[in-house]
Amino acid sequence: MTAAPSAIVILTGAGISAESGVSTFRDKDGIWAKVDYREVATPEGFARDPAKVHAFYNMRRRAVREVKPNAAHEALARLERGYPGDVLVVTQNVDSLHKMAGTQNLIHMHGQHNQILCNNCGMRMPWADDLSVEIACQACGTTGSLRPDVVWFGEMPYHMGRISKALSGCGLFISIGTSGTVYPAAGFVADARRAGAHTVELNLEPSEGVSHFHEAIHGRATEIVPKFVDSLLELARG
Ligand code: OAD
Repeated sequence: MTAAPSAIVILTGAGISAESGVSTFRDKDGIWAKVDYREVATPEGFARDPAKVHAFYNMRRRAVREVKPNAAHEALARLERGYPGDVLVVTQNVDSLHKMAGTQNLIHMHGQHNQILCNNCGMRMPWADDLSVEIACQACGTTGSLRPDVVWFGEMPYHMGRISKALSGCGLFISIGTSGTVYPAAGFVADARRAGAHTVELNLEPSEGVSHFHEAIHGRATEIVPKFVDSLLELARG
């Protein structure tokens, strides 16, 4: 890449939050090594045993309550503030670490832990406490219809129209801390390439989709992301 692209789309996954103390999913000690995703992260699992699903997300909501953004989240916020073009962060993560670091142009494509959704009336609201089947929706009064506002397997991720539009107009696509196994996010690199973008993977190790990227840098997010951001800001300064 010799010139600074006018628009950048950045996809992030669990690996960017790992050094803040948030578990990833598919590493050997990751969440899906301990819990069956079909039981806690599918609409069918919720219909079968909502109390089990609430217990899982209550535990995760509590776990992310104390965590803080790390140098990688902070670098992306710095990029947004200092870059002369558009910078959009699309995260698969349901934690609030990008927002806490100061990123503003942000899409939570898999929803957010600290928000709930009513399956009956579609009401959404912020939620910091434990959730249970006994709690009634404040909007429609239905009991048992409240769920975490996170996207489960088999459901359509949020804001796909806005994401597709951004990918089709970007000159640089960066994927950070994701294993590249979950679609549609795993297909964003191909969409960006079709749009003519330069594509870069920043991950601890080669992801499943590494061969789709023009460039790959491997290491810990807190080391490689700030360096990459510095090089982009340098390029933009000319
Ligand atoms: P994964 O757990 O699948 O992948 C995390 C990636 O981060 C792996 O490739 C790790 O090598 C890398 N990684 C770990 N520590 C890192 C570090 N310190 N620095 C840089 N990289 C590091 O998580 P995701 O790809 O985010 O969806 O998973 C995608 C989706 O699958 C999640 O949003 C979630 C999950 O099931 C749903 O629940 C719908």
